[in-house]
Amino acid sequence: VWNVDNIEGERSLDPGIKEAALWIKRGEAVAFPTETVYGLGADATNDEAVEKIFEAKGRPGDNPLIVHIGNQEQLSDLASSVPPLAQKLAEHFWPGPLTLILPKKQEVSSKVTAGLDTVAVRMPDHEAARALIKEAGVPVAAPSANQSGRPSPTKAEHVKHDLSGKVAGIVDGGSSGFGLESTVVDCSGEIAWILRPGGITKEQLEEVLGKDRIGFENRIDPHNDDDEMVSPKAPGMKYRHYAPDSPLILLRETKAIKRRMETEQKAGNKVAVLAVEEHRSDLEPAADIFIVLGSSAKLEGVAAHLYDNLRQADQSDADIILCETFSLEGVGLAIMNRLEKASAEG
Ligand code: TXA
Ligand code: MG
Repeated sequence: VWNVDNIEGERSLDPGIKEAALWIKRGEAVAFPTETVYGLGADATNDEAVEKIFEAKGRPGDNPLIVHIGNQEQLSDLASSVPPLAQKLAEHFWPGPLTLILPKKQEVSSKVTAGLDTVAVRMPDHEAARALIKEAGVPVAAPSANQSGRPSPTKAEHVKHDLSGKVAGIVDGGSSGFGLESTVVDCSGEIAWILRPGGITKEQLEEVLGKDRIGFENRIDPHNDDDEMVSPKAPGMKYRHYAPDSPLILLRETKAIKRRMETEQKAGNKVAVLAVEEHRSDLEPAADIFIVLGSSAKLEGVAAHLYDNLRQADQSDADIILCETFSLEGVGLAIMNRLEKASAEG
């Protein structure tokens, strides 16, 4: 583990970054912080190095990786063309938590793109990440640095827990900022299509491109009045996402949480409740385990700690996890997308 707190000091680059970059140049996989979550990076131009990422994570080889760049010039080595709408998004949001899907250059390895004719590119807004990419001198392929099927890591400690002994090293830059992954936008068509909501909100994208140039298929039914949220089986969501060992149930009303808690406890089950500070006094007394998700008035805070809180709930001895829901506006959309995935059964 390299602790980096002084990325680019007065005269020289942080020695930890230097060493991590050396490992990347040598074809090894190294974990590093970004403004979204920690990534597990390797030289995107080296197939053997890229394979080490899949191996360490236990990731299926047909799930493509995001290529991280340190400056705009590197984009032309990866994308065969950059459509005007992608150009506009890059200008507005890079560096930042936005990943653009673009037609790939032939030279980009199919190991990285899982055989697709598109490539995912992102320029992270994190000093250590960009210093590392710059020093390595190559585009860096990096998925989230978690064991496949676990929540993405937002602290070096999470990476250590999941990947210790499987990677060349971990650049420890403290907690990552946003806490959920980047927004993935497919820019290969006429309109920008949101494939994964994340750090850049749908509203922010709409502001730049106009509402009619943004596509998004909402898989969560906001008008469902049932106690329990339905998790429609998404077509095309073929990868198994993070799901805790104990079932995670999303409930809209604190009333419904209380009701379910009572039923479960009567059946002898230990219940963990995840809810915002505003509902603490209402729910904590009866809960076996209570985890505060932050405040509903500050969804950025909820996003920043969500994966850490899910890891905690997972490590508790709860038989069932009950979690409250959030509005789908702004950051809420990404939060609900991740919760919905965690609650969906395999
Ligand atoms: O915030 C993030 O995006 C983090 C940090 C490390 O940058 N990375 C991350 O990578 O979340 P990963 O591999 O966990 O998620 C990448 C997502 C996957 O859902 C993958 O299927 C999708 O992007 N993806 C990658 N290349 C794609 C492509 N060519 N077309 C469609 N989806 C693609
Ligand atoms: Mg991931």
